[in-house]
Amino acid sequence: MSHFITLKDYSKAQIKAFLELAVEIKKDPKNYKDVMHRKMLVMIFEKPSLRTRVSFETGMCQMGGDAIFYDMATSPLGAGKETIEDTAKVLSRYADLIMARLFEHDKMVQLARHADIPVINGLTDFNHPCQILSDLLTIQEHKGTIAGLTLAYLGDARNNVTHSLLYGCSQMGMNIRVGCPQIEEFCPFSDVVRDAVETARPGGTLVNVTHDPIEAATGADIIYTDSWMSYHVPPEEKDERLNVLMPYQVNANLMQHAAADAIFMNCLPAMRGFEQTADVVDGPQSIVFDQAENRLHAQKAIMVHLTEQS
Ligand code: CP
Ligand code: NVA
Repeated sequence: MSHFITLKDYSKAQIKAFLELAVEIKKDPKNYKDVMHRKMLVMIFEKPSLRTRVSFETGMCQMGGDAIFYDMATSPLGAGKETIEDTAKVLSRYADLIMARLFEHDKMVQLARHADIPVINGLTDFNHPCQILSDLLTIQEHKGTIAGLTLAYLGDARNNVTHSLLYGCSQMGMNIRVGCPQIEEFCPFSDVVRDAVETARPGGTLVNVTHDPIEAATGADIIYTDSWMSYHVPPEEKDERLNVLMPYQVNANLMQHAAADAIFMNCLPAMRGFEQTADVVDGPQSIVFDQAENRLHAQKAIMVHLTEQS
């Protein structure tokens, strides 16, 4: 059974194959209008969402299938009345695919282990592979290539987006620099950095973590940031996080250190005045809505591929 849980599980050739299929589906969506005929996607949500929920449901409908929104808050699983194992087994008797957005990554792994149908990770605290696959598509469209570029990620780096970027960039030959506070709770997990360095090394691709935002941004082709208040972060941490992360805010001054033709990315949702200023996210270098659109096309490719494999 093939699942889509983390980009670490996928080789460069497999990621390229996903991207090629996404390009094809985006170019000729009508050719794929029946490939999911009468297939059912169950979408389990333990956290909020705009893009993931609507792009998966729309994608499934556009390919002839259907999707059920299943809220963890009103589920026996969420109430602690049913195990993840039984949930996986029951859903496998009704549906053809599961997409889940959960807090704990281990629960996602268990869901996949016990499901007889493909499971797609729609975000955990640890990883956000659908986002980064879509972002690779968006970078390819804007830059004409992926390998050899340099991406600088600024801000809270102990999060799903940073970890998936580390896996995705290192696999695809894109240099990645992470600029984050020198405080453990804001740094990427060291085993993820180690894996990325090892994956990158044979191709001469660079993986760096620095605590100097200007060093991270200098000459970069892509400046990427993400929420300082990820869904899993308690609201009472807001003031403290703002203080610590403000030096890593992406503003016009920081953008000036990047390449002249640099693009700005944020997976959204974005808070203006926090991880970036409004002039950057709403400015001419920003491609954030192309990123959002490409969730639709890339996730169609994931669903088609997994359905063909199962
Ligand atoms: N980028 C992203 O996953 O957005 P949502 O939280 O709205 O799904
Ligand atoms: N790091 C963010 C990504 C949102 C799509 C979060 O987990 O909330």
